Amino acid sequence: MAEFSVFATGRRAARVHPRVILLGVVCAVAVAIPLYLVAPWVLPVRVYEGPLVQMTTEDGVTLVWYTTRPAACTVEVSGAGEQRRESAEADGTRNRVELAGLRAGTTYAYEVRAGGRPLTKGLVFETARTADEPFTFLVFGDSGRGTRAQYLLAAEMVQALPAANLVLHTGDLVYGRPDRRRYEERFFTPYRPLLARVNFWPSLGNHDLDEEGSAAVYQGVFELPENGPPGLPEERNYWFDYGASRFAILDSNMDEAALREQVAPWLAEVMADPMVRWRFVVLHHPPYTGGKYAPDERIQRALVPTFEAAGVDVVFSGHDHNYQRSHPLLGGQVVEVGTGVVYIVTGAGGAGLYSARQPRPEFVAAIDDQRHSFTQVTVDGDLLRLRQIALGGDLLDEAAWHKRTAAPPPLEEPAEATTVPDTPEPQSP
Ligand SMILES: [Fe+2]
Repeated sequence: MAEFSVFATGRRAARVHPRVILLGVVCAVAVAIPLYLVAPWVLPVRVYEGPLVQMTTEDGVTLVWYTTRPAACTVEVSGAGEQRRESAEADGTRNRVELAGLRAGTTYAYEVRAGGRPLTKGLVFETARTADEPFTFLVFGDSGRGTRAQYLLAAEMVQALPAANLVLHTGDLVYGRPDRRRYEERFFTPYRPLLARVNFWPSLGNHDLDEEGSAAVYQGVFELPENGPPGLPEERNYWFDYGASRFAILDSNMDEAALREQVAPWLAEVMADPMVRWRFVVLHHPPYTGGKYAPDERIQRALVPTFEAAGVDVVFSGHDHNYQRSHPLLGGQVVEVGTGVVYIVTGAGGAGLYSARQPRPEFVAAIDDQRHSFTQVTVDGDLLRLRQIALGGDLLDEAAWHKRTAAPPPLEEPAEATTVPDTPEPQSP
């Protein structure tokens, strides 16, 4: 058997038998593993999940991250001509910092530290912009399979990040039962640069609940507004504002009676604020879809009348693993642009795709069932621009329309256009 020469710079190279090298490695591992298990502080602490930007407002954000072991962390924040250091609250390996008193629409650099040593590098977040500034958000869903497509699409979204101010998810964040251990591979790792920069607002898919219907894992990971319907568990339904837009995130896993009697009245109240210009809803199950699934009649009966009466502009959903844009609808009928609710299915975020149904339903304006993709929406005053971007960067669909200027017509009366879009709706390729 050959021997390896070491210390060859001397007059005579020392020869070490491979078995001695192997024995040395085995001994080192045999000592290191128990030592790490008994005394994990022998290795430097690291951030292994996050940071996650949450609860973004015009003057604050909450940052959450997980370390390899409990550690006293601080965050250094600089921007708008000031620098500050905040100590994190720790719950085991989960660390959280709530930053307040920031300036609206401002980019801040931040760094997580432990014992004065930086654990992150080159991170920034931006506070929410004020009502008169344009902003952009991304929407996607049905992603958490850990597939190559999920990771590649995540990288595409990172490319779109400079133009994105927030991200919405239409549910099914992590497949394979809501096992917390899967979040690292199927959520934190693929979206790491995105999560560290912009607010990720989740909704609950059917795969995000355990067998008892609990959303405990989801509630443990995310920091969400506790402003849902009275009597229902917090964080499963919530709303927030960005600029002059209001977003309501709904848990469509609930039974029809709860949706009708508890969620719908709450949603009507949330959306009634006359200062709000654009009204968006996110929920997992699509009330209108031309994909694998039939339109969800529970949602049609329990929530669609409220969407229409409250003047909701766009409803985003997933569950059907493809992309679809509906014509504007009232009572299931196609109406003129600017007078109805547009339903977007954006469920092509990484899981296997589902085919479109044939024949194509009349309410479908655009559909793609061949490519993984995400939605990009820009709100600029009264104008909304929507683009569906495929893996590889191809544009699958593009639409733009102006906000209606009056309240929506009553359901019993024929719908009439109150504004005329000066940007025609392009057809999907
Ligand atoms: Fe689903």
